[in-house]
Amino acid sequence: MTIQIPRGTQDILPGEVEKWQWIEETAKKICQLYQYQEIRTPIFEQTELFQRGVGDTTDIVQKEMYSFQDRGGRDLTLRPEGTAAIVRSFTENKMFGLPNQPVKLYYLGPMFRYERPQSGRYRQFVQFGVEALGSMDPAIDAEVIALAMEFYRSLGLKRLKLVINSLGDRESRKAHRNALIQHFQPRINEFCSDCQERLEKNPLRILDCKKDRKHELMASAPSILDFLNDDSSTYFKQVQHYLNAMNIEFVVDPTLVRGLDYYNHTAFEIMSEAEGFGAITTLCGGGRYNGLVKEMGGPDTPGIGFALSIERLIQALEAEDVPMENNKQMNAYIIALGEKAKDYSVALLQNLRRDGLSVERDYMDRKLKAQFKAAERLGAQYAVIIGDDELSSGVATVKNLVTGEQKEMALENLKEGLLD
Ligand code: HAM
Repeated sequence: MTIQIPRGTQDILPGEVEKWQWIEETAKKICQLYQYQEIRTPIFEQTELFQRGVGDTTDIVQKEMYSFQDRGGRDLTLRPEGTAAIVRSFTENKMFGLPNQPVKLYYLGPMFRYERPQSGRYRQFVQFGVEALGSMDPAIDAEVIALAMEFYRSLGLKRLKLVINSLGDRESRKAHRNALIQHFQPRINEFCSDCQERLEKNPLRILDCKKDRKHELMASAPSILDFLNDDSSTYFKQVQHYLNAMNIEFVVDPTLVRGLDYYNHTAFEIMSEAEGFGAITTLCGGGRYNGLVKEMGGPDTPGIGFALSIERLIQALEAEDVPMENNKQMNAYIIALGEKAKDYSVALLQNLRRDGLSVERDYMDRKLKAQFKAAERLGAQYAVIIGDDELSSGVATVKNLVTGEQKEMALENLKEGLLD
């Protein structure tokens, strides 16, 4: 039996990979504009990092991690997300001591979650994310959100919905937590086993339950926004004020609860409203995580960030019919006829490539006509024909494959001519 690709993963083949390159280049460009620097951390980390960082009660840690022991008996996990590792690296490399604060970082790479694969949900997916560590200015929350929105906008997405919420500070959350326990406790046996377990550990996560979404106690559950203390409420208002200042439209949704434990204050998600997008509409999620650096053993440093997957982004681009152009043009296809010309063309290709031209030739012993066809298929701008006659006269026949025009070009001036 032939071996197949693992479930929930995908090959990104030539033809498709150009979209990825375009998106990745755009992400890098936008991070340069907003002054976020790239950071690369390992694909696997100590399992404990995610248990403590993402949270023991989350679905990610309880059900979705790819964990294993290495030959030395160490417990390791393929990273299910980026934030915990960035915080580890920030602390380990003492980035809190850098002169430039806040520390603004971005990452782009594969994440792994053992989820039930479906449209928009993979077991290996690529996240682009940013983290800003060290500032408690609500303007940085607004900047992080603006960066994500601007990234999507610059790629051509229009049908976006930004949803924000505040989860408040420790004090506000505590008051809300108690109210949630009181609300759900009397009828908790009507809820799924996960929710029953969450009641004491993390009742906020009950609001995120997919199974019990329609239970009447869900809609009437106490809203976090009614429990925000003055500091949290002022902070949230300031974030909204800055979003308004940038003309970024948003909706406040007090039921927005993120699936990871580290959040407080600002939480947000960006959804696609494109028709035919599919059931999972969240493109991007993020928020503030003020206690996480301390939890990881660093100094008490605030942080905010987001992550989005390229897989869902491509799905949204397709749903909105955004053309994904491929500008990677090829300059010329060299057609060598005869042994001498072939010898000459081998060196010619090498020299042209060294001069920065994208060129190709035949390796399949095709006839002249088939070589022209190959040149057109590859999108070459010119076909250059070199036979024995051309070699002795030092002049090649060059056909512009876009206009059909044909002319002679001195072999020694080929580079300039082809770049014309
Ligand atoms: P998250 O909500 O778990 O947050 O994931 C962020 C985004 O990753 C989702 O909105 C979705 O686009 C994408 N995503 C998640 N799981 C999958 C999957 N199985 N297949 C395809 N795409 C997926 C985080 O990961 C946080 N670290 C975000 C963050 C950064 N918060 C603060 N800083």
